[in-house]
Amino acid sequence: MNVTEKTKITPWEVTGKVDYEKIMTKFGTEPIDQKILKQLSDLTSGDIHFMLRRGIFFTHRDLGWLLNRKKAGENFYLYTGRGPSDHTHIGHLVPWVFTKWLQEKFHAKLIFQITDDEKFLFNENLDSETTHSLALDNALDIVALGFDPKLTEIMIDTDRSGLLYPQAVKIAKKITFSTVKATFGFDQSANIGMIFYTSIQAVPAMIESVRNGKNIPCLIPYGIDQDPHFRIARDVLPRLGYLKPASIMSIFIPPLSGVDGKMSSSDPNNAIFVTDSEAVVKRKINKYAFSGGRTSVEEHRKLGGDPDIDVSYQWLKIMFEPDDSKLKKIHDDYRSGALLSGEMKAILIERVNSFLKRHQEARERAKSTLQVFLDDH
Ligand code: TRP
Repeated sequence: MNVTEKTKITPWEVTGKVDYEKIMTKFGTEPIDQKILKQLSDLTSGDIHFMLRRGIFFTHRDLGWLLNRKKAGENFYLYTGRGPSDHTHIGHLVPWVFTKWLQEKFHAKLIFQITDDEKFLFNENLDSETTHSLALDNALDIVALGFDPKLTEIMIDTDRSGLLYPQAVKIAKKITFSTVKATFGFDQSANIGMIFYTSIQAVPAMIESVRNGKNIPCLIPYGIDQDPHFRIARDVLPRLGYLKPASIMSIFIPPLSGVDGKMSSSDPNNAIFVTDSEAVVKRKINKYAFSGGRTSVEEHRKLGGDPDIDVSYQWLKIMFEPDDSKLKKIHDDYRSGALLSGEMKAILIERVNSFLKRHQEARERAKSTLQVFLDDH
């Protein structure tokens, strides 16, 4: 990666070095600090997900408020989503795994929006049949993770227009063209569907209040790149009489090529897809995972490696090694030089493949239960 590359963060593209402190200041979000962790731990009988302990989910808006209301007996619902531009990759699963934990801990209903309309509008090369069939394909990965079918409703946008559209127009009427241009950086060549789209992504943040005829708090977990959409939603929803959604945001999942930027489907060698075979996973990690190791074994033994820039270590930390003491040993052994780069990769390959084996089986089974998730809840 070119160090002079400029940092760029939009809902559609992330490049360059990311400074998460700066993002919080710029976006005006709060850190996940000891106080919030204590509030969470009080409500989850002391269980704090490792993604919270490790700063994978690092920032929020109004989470303290939402947890206080929960403590006082008021339930909230969860909302997250997926833009179906390709098969699901490992980076997508990180916030979903966390969302599932939230669902279990808080027994919360989840609305999972699949934005096939978005991916159609924003990608020159995708037609609407493709984005719709990718929506169904991606939905299998959501089901395969084991969300509760009674509490989880998957909404594919183009299949749920009857529900979404009447609300989206109310939202759209409160958003000006200049706000959208300034927020997303569109120029004169943007198609008009792109300009309208953010109102569709805002609907699930109020839909349970609409359906129940009373305000129900909403918590949205997402990768920080989605923040511009929800800044707009938080501005508009109160003007329609609804609550501002609370949110909890994660860092980006690094591509195999290095710890900067975000895993994306556009370079298949930089991402591991849930449909990859064991052999492909092994080849991709061995060949492409950026290593923080030294150039020779002798040097590595003497000087040790750098886990902070080692993508295999980072993936273990972000998703594949939940046990803190095991992770610490891997970290310390790598720093000291006792653990070699190839050994680090071997640990990750084993973890990813055993995860994918189970996931791929669950994905097959999901084909027969999918409809339950797609039905109106
Ligand atoms: N725009 C998101 C994407 O491209 C999909 C999405 C819709 C989403 N609603 C969401 C993501 C809510 C997180 C939370 O992936």
